[in-house]
Amino acid sequence: MKIQVSKGDISQFSAEAVVVNLFEGVTQPGGGTGRVNEALGGLLADELTETVRFKGSVGETLVLHTHKKLPARYVVLVGLGKADKLEAKTLRRASAAAIRACMGLKVKSVATLLHGAGIGGFEVEAAARLLAEGSLLGAYKFTKYKQSGKSNGNKEDAEAKAETVAIETLTVVEVEEAKLSAITKGVQQGQCIAEQVNQARDWVFDSGNHVTPTYLKEQAESIAGLQCTVLDDRAIEELGMGAFSAVKQGTSQPSYLIHLRYTPASGNPKKKITLVGKGITFDSGGLSLKPPQGQELMKSDMAGAAAVLATMKAVAAMPTLEVQVDAFIPTCENMPGGRAVKPGDIVRALNGKTIEINNTDAEGRLILCDALTYAQQQVAPDEIIDLATLTGACVIALGKVAAGMMGNNTALQDGIREAGEHAGEKFWPLPLYEEYKDALKSDVADLINAGAKGEAGASAAGVFLQAFIEGECPWVHLDIAGPAYTGKDVPEVPKGASGFGVRTLLYYLYNL
Ligand code: BES
Ligand code: ZN
Ligand code: ZN
Repeated sequence: MKIQVSKGDISQFSAEAVVVNLFEGVTQPGGGTGRVNEALGGLLADELTETVRFKGSVGETLVLHTHKKLPARYVVLVGLGKADKLEAKTLRRASAAAIRACMGLKVKSVATLLHGAGIGGFEVEAAARLLAEGSLLGAYKFTKYKQSGKSNGNKEDAEAKAETVAIETLTVVEVEEAKLSAITKGVQQGQCIAEQVNQARDWVFDSGNHVTPTYLKEQAESIAGLQCTVLDDRAIEELGMGAFSAVKQGTSQPSYLIHLRYTPASGNPKKKITLVGKGITFDSGGLSLKPPQGQELMKSDMAGAAAVLATMKAVAAMPTLEVQVDAFIPTCENMPGGRAVKPGDIVRALNGKTIEINNTDAEGRLILCDALTYAQQQVAPDEIIDLATLTGACVIALGKVAAGMMGNNTALQDGIREAGEHAGEKFWPLPLYEEYKDALKSDVADLINAGAKGEAGASAAGVFLQAFIEGECPWVHLDIAGPAYTGKDVPEVPKGASGFGVRTLLYYLYNL
């Protein structure tokens, strides 16, 4: 779907469907919605007052046929909720809901008003960004493996494919010439953000036999404008990453530690931010094998890596950042087999600490701890942010609604939480109490990888990672095991791979 900006009056615009908006409680629409209402002979207002079919709540939609009273065939009315409660997430959701309503109409061209600009403190540019973001996020569908046409005889599959190709252009129609350049700028930003969220969704939805560590490496190498260095199996072993090596030794796929760097054109970055993403392309549990149900969605165990990679793609595409951004992605499969790491094995991590591996399914912290040490050695960053589908315990605690957030620096955590609020993603703090460190005690090594037996599992994983953060380096760990793969459709996040984290990281980096 291509997003364009055009000067004109929406009621006269020639597109198959036009999207107009309304706040809750309004019965006499004004602006563009008012002009469309007039062109329809007051039909919209009738729906509000006589039939009361439309209340204007956030994301509510109503489709009307125009009967040729305007160039468009359909008018889609979308609710923006209460005017005094307008938020970023409202505009994102309303745009997503509107585009979904249009997808149902099987139209190719849609024109829309710019929702919410100038209301509730939303600048034109921000409103345009949220419109583009919401529209592209809402229009997303993973159809890579669905054949169109009748070849598989499955009508639903064919429809799923047909729907995604349906809308070709979305035109933001604005009467005021003066607003056009800000709209264009906002649209470009929103487009870039949503495209990368959708990219992360594609990677996470795609299967473990396609998205292998080698595939992720190739994707990283193909990003123009970034410096990419890759450690292969031999380098990982020779450098002394015993924890990462233990996890990868059971797979026949090559493993990698990917390092991407963005350097601002000015050459003197204001700050150095490091991102780390867990890239287990399939987590069987290893010899501590997961039961079948537990394995079903473990192709998504690279969602942290996907979020970090997609964020880097956006950073490369919008090279205005004045900070250096480094991304580290340890990626491998976690498999059982004759060469696999065994419960009870003791290994030495890159920072010299020894680890007793009592449970091979707690593999995420093992690949991350060596990546964290390596990142600190390579960059000496000002901030480290790691994203990982790390524990089932975090899903139990917070469900799929929010990511668990742990760290050693309140300012950094506040920054992420706030960015998440604007971006429409939730992060909830979990503690790293001293007492949880008891769970790290091993009888035979410096640390044990899965000491906590059913207690505070997310925090136990957090304190394990913390043991690999040197000095006072600000660090935040985001356990995205819940929200990375959802089971419920919301307009801007179709169920399944959500691309969680990309928006927050970009809002944080660009301070949106
Ligand atoms: N990848 C899983 C965590 C996970 C579970 C992600 C459910 C998404 C949905 C992780 O590697 C894992 O298996 N963790 C174990 C740790 C335990 C053995 C200490 C877990 O959560 O059970
Ligand atoms: Zn695991
Ligand atoms: Zn895992």
